[in-house]
Amino acid sequence: MRCIAIANQKGGVGKTTTAINLATALAATGAKVLLIDLDPQGNASTGLGVARDQRDWTSYELLIGEADLAECTVKTDVPGLSIVPATVDLSGAEIELVDRDRRSNALQTAIASASTYDVCLIDCPPSLGLLTVNALVAAHSVLVPLQCEFFALEGLSQLLQTVELVRTRFNPDLSILGVALTMYDRRNRLTEQVSDDVRSVLGPIVFDTVIPRNVRLSEAPSHGLPALIYDHRCAGSMAYIDLARELIERLPKEDIAA
Ligand SMILES: Nc1ncnc2c1ncn2[C@@H]1O[C@H](COP(=O)(O)OP(=O)(O)O)[C@@H](O)[C@H]1O
Ligand SMILES: [Mg+2]
Repeated sequence: MRCIAIANQKGGVGKTTTAINLATALAATGAKVLLIDLDPQGNASTGLGVARDQRDWTSYELLIGEADLAECTVKTDVPGLSIVPATVDLSGAEIELVDRDRRSNALQTAIASASTYDVCLIDCPPSLGLLTVNALVAAHSVLVPLQCEFFALEGLSQLLQTVELVRTRFNPDLSILGVALTMYDRRNRLTEQVSDDVRSVLGPIVFDTVIPRNVRLSEAPSHGLPALIYDHRCAGSMAYIDLARELIERLPKEDIAA
């Protein structure tokens, strides 16, 4: 199982939207996909239509070892896509794990023996705390959504430092899969300038595909559906399909036979 953490400690940059729609696009290729909601806000769970009463076992129980992966997994309405949902309980996991010896490896341990899935996406919370560290320790690579706004690159060095720290201490093979520009607005000059700047600073790790600012992407979660199902022809959905295609090209060949 190839495991990708979707991380950026800033809130509102498109992590969850990217997690939901990439997961859906990957499932559409026939891959078996697991999405782990690692944000106590539970937006990925809500956005995929997982009701509160379907969240008895969540990423909280998974992390603290009270339940195993199979028990915590819920099938979504998207064929081939399952989710480990989250509730606000998850915020307690950080506190409970602090005193444990292998607190950074809790998620890695919990998913180590998973054999049902080809790909696992982890939707990280907006912080660089223990939850995100657990995601980075469990993952093979990181995908960073970056919002096309003036301070886009601010905070990125902190994130890269955290990745480096996790690499030296826990996960030597952790790589940056890529940076995805989100909420791109063609009518806004600033957006274009930010995108040019980001590309000149970060180079080819930035995906060619940009995710446009698209109202359908923001409407879909209130219907409990990925945009790719809510409106598969909107510009946002098309962009996530392109991003999935690019992402697959960057994965080791043996991972996804699509
Ligand atoms: N490309 C986009 N176009 C329009 N709205 C978007 C887009 N991406 C995300 N949004 C909206 O912006 C808000 C923040 O996005 P979200 O994916 O939840 O970010 P994060 O998980 O990083 O906090 C949400 O209301 C979401 O629906
Ligand atoms: Mg989110």
